[in-house]
Amino acid sequence: MVQRVRKAVLPVAGLGTRFLPATKVIPKEMIPVIDKPVVQYAIEEARAAGIEEFIFVSAYGKESITQHFSPAPGLERQLEEKGKTAELALVRGATLSTIHTVIQENPLGLGHAVWCAWPLVGDEPFAVILPDDMVLSQTPCLKQLIEAHAKVGGHVVAVEDVPREQTNRYGILDVLSDDGKLAKAKGLVEKPAPETAPSTLAIIGRYVLDPIVFGELDKKTKGAGGEIQLTDGLNRTIDRVPFHGLRFEGRRYDCGTHVGFVEANLAFGLARPEMAAKLRPLVKNLLEMK
Ligand code: G1P
Repeated sequence: MVQRVRKAVLPVAGLGTRFLPATKVIPKEMIPVIDKPVVQYAIEEARAAGIEEFIFVSAYGKESITQHFSPAPGLERQLEEKGKTAELALVRGATLSTIHTVIQENPLGLGHAVWCAWPLVGDEPFAVILPDDMVLSQTPCLKQLIEAHAKVGGHVVAVEDVPREQTNRYGILDVLSDDGKLAKAKGLVEKPAPETAPSTLAIIGRYVLDPIVFGELDKKTKGAGGEIQLTDGLNRTIDRVPFHGLRFEGRRYDCGTHVGFVEANLAFGLARPEMAAKLRPLVKNLLEMK
């Protein structure tokens, strides 16, 4: 019987250097896509997948992330007095009482960030969400992973096929078997060169993991880029627990790049009926402009 996934780890300690100067004061996870901070989309996806506890692996100076999910009594009172019920619901909808924060003192890599959450996760399966990867789908991406995990157990991560020249940006699966939806891996490589990549099946920022990985991350072995890589820790557990990549239903937008961020704004805008009708002709006009 596979244990239920109740906790999600969100690594948010990064400096967000690619988005300077926007990230000089505002954490990159707080930059909005339309009207919601990027991190709120991740939280909403996790809640829709049944996650109950949220563990932020954060850094000093990024307190506004947890503040965003705290009650705002002054603002709430004013909205109440003005009868702004819809706005009040938006503010209250962004409140969570089951948040824990752990500080990652040094940016030693994603594997290290996840390891920092070990005491708060304990010995149960857990999710990892990288908020930079936003997914637009019918069924929340993490829910799809949790459903697959209930059947196969072990580690289940979201994957997609990427162009071969991009393998050096991702964790890549060495595929053992593949039914077109679920691919079972016999190995994993972090950011391999296109010539040596064992496949083009790439991990994107959604994971459901067996806690066995913590013991491996605890060894603090450095990998690609001199960082402690989550992919490497997972690779070293592959003989003990099954590792599956799920080709999820939906589309991923990489908010970690400028172009991906603009694309995400357009895609999420077009997905909102009240915006789509106005946005469509605008985008068309822009494209036709000389
Ligand atoms: C991280 C992981 C990588 C994964 C990617 C997904 O890389 O290390 O395995 O494929 O996230 O977005 P990063 O984007 O932090 O370089």
